[in-house]
Amino acid sequence: MKISNSEYARRRRNLMAMMEPNSIAIIPSAREVRRSRDTEYPFRQDSDFYYLSGFKEPDAVLVLIPGRAHGEFVMFCRDRDEAGELWHGRRAGPSGACEQFAADDAFPIGDADEILPGLIEGRDRVYYSMGRSTRFDRQIMEWVNTIRSKEATGAVPPGEFTDLDHMLHDLRLVKSAAEQKLMRRAGEITAGAHRHIMGQCRPGMFEYQLEAELHHQFALGGARHPAYLSIVGSGANACTLHYVENSAKMRDGDLVLVDAGCEFEYYAADVTRTFPVNGRFSPEQLAIYNLVLAAHDATIAQVRAGNHWNQPHDASVRVITAGLVELGLLEGEVDELIETQAYRDFYMHRVGHWLGLDVHDVGDYRVGNEWRVLEAGMVLTVEPGIYIAPQATSVARKWRGIGVRIEDDVLVTREGCEILTEGAPRTAAEIEAVMAAP
Ligand code: GLY
Ligand code: MN
Ligand code: MN
Repeated sequence: MKISNSEYARRRRNLMAMMEPNSIAIIPSAREVRRSRDTEYPFRQDSDFYYLSGFKEPDAVLVLIPGRAHGEFVMFCRDRDEAGELWHGRRAGPSGACEQFAADDAFPIGDADEILPGLIEGRDRVYYSMGRSTRFDRQIMEWVNTIRSKEATGAVPPGEFTDLDHMLHDLRLVKSAAEQKLMRRAGEITAGAHRHIMGQCRPGMFEYQLEAELHHQFALGGARHPAYLSIVGSGANACTLHYVENSAKMRDGDLVLVDAGCEFEYYAADVTRTFPVNGRFSPEQLAIYNLVLAAHDATIAQVRAGNHWNQPHDASVRVITAGLVELGLLEGEVDELIETQAYRDFYMHRVGHWLGLDVHDVGDYRVGNEWRVLEAGMVLTVEPGIYIAPQATSVARKWRGIGVRIEDDVLVTREGCEILTEGAPRTAAEIEAVMAAP
C-alpha cells in the first residue's frame, strides 16, 4: 500500500501547470535534528518534499522547471558512499533518484551551489516556501547573488519571488483515491488501538502505561510512529488541552482523555476518546459526555460537499451552548451566549482542522473573504469538547475537573462524509460494554 511513481509524477505536473511560464520551484528536504550529543530525533521527511517525490532522505533539494528541455524534475541528494552506507544504511544517490524516483536529472547535493544558480538564471520567477526556514531563505538569496555577481557577463537574475505554499497546499488539500486508502488504514489502526486500550485500562495504572499500549498497537499495525505527541490526561489533566506529560496515576472515578493517532505511510490519523478509568461513567460525566457526543453528531451532519468550512463549527457551538444552559453551567439566552462567545469558557477551540500528511494539515480555511467550501476528497477532524477547569468556581463543584473531547477523522464525499475512524467505540454504552468485556 503506497503512492505510485505515476501519482508523484501527476502531482509534479499539477504543480507545474499552476506555475507561471519561465519559472522555477525549489523545495528543500527536512534536515536531521540533534536530540542530544550524537543522537538524533527520528528523521521525518518534509511533507511538501515527500508529497512531490516520495523521497525519504535528508540533505536533498527538489527542483521543478516547467518546460526545461533537458528535463523538468531535477534532484540534488546525498552521493552514494560505501563507508557511510555501511554505518547508516542505503542512499539512493543521484542515479537512484533518476531510476527509482523518476528524476530527469540528478546531482550530488555538494554540487548544488555550483549548479543551482545556473538553473535559476534566466527564469523570471522563483517559487519557494518563504520564511519557513531562515537558513533556506538565505540559501536562495545566496544562489541569486551568485547570478547577480555575473550580471556584467550577461547573467539575468530572476525579478520575482513567490511563496510556493499557497499553490502546493491547495493540491495537498484534496486527497486522491490512493491517499484516501492510506488515510483509511491510518484511521483503522488508530481506532483499533483506542478500542484496545479501553479494554486494558484499570484504576491505579499510570497514564504512560496506556500510552505504551497504544503505541504498541500502532507499531503492530505497521505504523511505527505516532503522528504527534500522544495526550493521555486523566482527571483534571484532561482540561489541559496539550497535556503530554502522561505521568499521573489514574484514579478510580476519574475520566481519562486520550488524544492519539498513528502516522501510516506518512499520513496522520487524529483521534480522541474519553472514557471512565473504572469502566462506568458517573451521572455528571455521562451528562457532559452525551452533550459532547450530541455536538459531535450535529457537526458530522454538516460535513458534506457544498457546505462551507464554518458550518460544522457553528453546529457544534449551538449544541454545546444550548446543552450547557440546560445543565445549568451557563445562564442566559442561547443566541446571546453564542453571540458573546460565553461557551468559550468551556469550549475554547475550533471543531476541527484539515488532516493529511500533517496532523494540522495545510490548506486555506478561507478563500478571499469567504469560508472555504468543502469538496469531496478533503479530510478534516471533528472534535468538539467541553473542559470544566478544576478552579471554575462559577459552576457547582460536582462538574469541576471534567474534560471530554470526542474526535474522529472524516472524509468529505459528494453525498456527505465517511468517518475514517469509526472503529473506535463512541457512545457511552459502547465504551462501557468494551470496558466490561472479560
Ligand atoms: N491532536 C491534536 C489535535 O487534536 O488537534
Ligand atoms: Mn487530536
Ligand atoms: Mn485534531
